Amino acid sequence: MKKNIFFFKIIFFVNLFLLPAKSDDIFDLGKDIFLNKAVCSSCHSLDDAGSNAQIGPNLNEIRPEKMRVMTVVKNGIGVMPAYEGQLTDKEIEAVSHYVSVASNN
Ligand code: HEC
Repeated sequence: MKKNIFFFKIIFFVNLFLLPAKSDDIFDLGKDIFLNKAVCSSCHSLDDAGSNAQIGPNLNEIRPEKMRVMTVVKNGIGVMPAYEGQLTDKEIEAVSHYVSVASNN
């Protein structure tokens, strides 16, 4: 019986280390999409991505929440294209996570 509790604790502590690592992976995936796949960087400034394009709003300044980014990336807005169908749901979520965290929300 004691042994079981011991293993439970081990699993609990291992999870504490793995969970943040997992969200970093999503951040990295989102950054790659921002720069290379969806090339958001061709229109938007974002310090973390090293981009300073001026076509769309400066993301460092508007600091959008994740849900706001997800909505525009899916549906497009003004001259910004919709990415639904071009990016998977997971990729849309990753790039939105990245933008909201990198712009400091
Ligand atoms: C072709 C240029 C272009 C590309 C590529 C582009 N955007 Fe945009 N984006 C714009 C423009 C222009 C606006 C402002 C549209 C308006 O308000 O009429 C905008 C608006 C936004 C907004 C603010 C929306 C709001 O709520 O006001 C966010 C967030 C955003 N873009 C994120 C992204 C992300 C993330 C990507 C990549 C997946 C991306 N954009 C790709 C041009 C672009």
